[in-house]
Amino acid sequence: MIGFELSDDQKALQETARKFARNEMWPKAPHHDKTSEFPHEIMKKAFEAGLMNLSIPQDLGGPGFAILDQCIITEEIAYGCVGMGTSMMANDLALTPIILAGTPEQKQRFVKPFAEKLKYASFGLTEPGHGSDAAGMETRIEKKGDHYLLNGSKCWITNGGVADQLTVFCTIDRKLGPKGICAIVVDKNMPGVSVGKHEDKMGQRASETVVLNFEDVKIPFDRLLGKEGEGFKIAMQTLDRTRPLVAISGVGVARAALEHAVKYSKERKQFGQPISGFQGIQFMLADMAADVEASRLLTWESAWMIDAGKPASMYSSFAKRVSTDTAMKVTTDAVQVFGGYGYVKEYPVEKLMRDAKLLQIYEGTNQIQRVVIARELLKQF
Ligand code: CAA
Repeated sequence: MIGFELSDDQKALQETARKFARNEMWPKAPHHDKTSEFPHEIMKKAFEAGLMNLSIPQDLGGPGFAILDQCIITEEIAYGCVGMGTSMMANDLALTPIILAGTPEQKQRFVKPFAEKLKYASFGLTEPGHGSDAAGMETRIEKKGDHYLLNGSKCWITNGGVADQLTVFCTIDRKLGPKGICAIVVDKNMPGVSVGKHEDKMGQRASETVVLNFEDVKIPFDRLLGKEGEGFKIAMQTLDRTRPLVAISGVGVARAALEHAVKYSKERKQFGQPISGFQGIQFMLADMAADVEASRLLTWESAWMIDAGKPASMYSSFAKRVSTDTAMKVTTDAVQVFGGYGYVKEYPVEKLMRDAKLLQIYEGTNQIQRVVIARELLKQF
């Protein structure tokens, strides 16, 4: 039997996150969207409310939430403001490689401090010339005496400017392709690390996105995760676990857009009646609602697969592809329901549409999700 009823603990988590989204995030979201200021205050409150670092295991001082529980929280956070949500989730993306591949000593050093105090970590995979083709990266390490030297650049780095610690993927030999990639933990204060351009984004403007540069950064050997050459698998295993959280963020954004559209359709009158009375509007709202529900269920299934220890790459990609495409469609339709008012900043739905677009791009474009799905599918039959 399959049950969809949340446990009492899950309902309590959902309620905490929902109240935080409504009381703390909603009122501040327009300001951060307009100014692109990093929401330090919200992050501080989220940390204190236990709504950050959801993936840190209990033995390292974190809540050790299952991916499904993380999804329940993240849907509410994204409903509040997905840009802030992206900044809140960035620590989990950066710490997961250490949780998956670090030694007990590395976990104590590089993960535990994040459960004790508000700190920021960033995940550095993408480069100016290598986005979807992550294994083609050029950022490199070479052995020099008792340490590595790190050189190169990473781009589109969430929270990179405010980060204290960086999980960086780099190659030790480009000829080896994916098998030459290493994962290392970099302290942002190390000499040779610098923050480059801050991106001026279309949406999710509350999250910080920067370029990071590395010039002859000395990396002690004990900052390597796993063995040399294991970095690519660590990155892919990390993304398998985090893509459902991007997917559920799409559900949160779409749900917000649907709610606004339903309410507005009942207020807005044309031809002498609320536009909610017209079948053309009703059918749009009905499709939006069905797509939100379907996306949530697919995402929960992908989370359940991961929590059950089953191979989940394809399911994570199903969820990411479907839910973030849903977010784009539902937010676009919400703008349509609002008509001209949907296109101006005085009303909330244009922000949701701009925010949704990034979900189709980051943590692997939806074209890359199709690559992952198709490769798996072709192996099966
Ligand atoms: N788990 C474990 N191992 C995996 C794996 C997985 N999910 N996926 C691949 N591998 C292994 C393969 O088995 C293979 O190993 P073997 O040769 O030993 O079998 C090795 O890794 C190489 O795999 P591929 O041949 O499939 O590699 P590829 O170069 O063809 O790339 C890809 C595959 C799926 C396209 C990958 O490059 C990819 O996911 N690209 C997208 C990158 C991405 O998502 N970037 C997001 C950045 S993070 C971000 O956006 C967040 C932010 O802050 C904004």
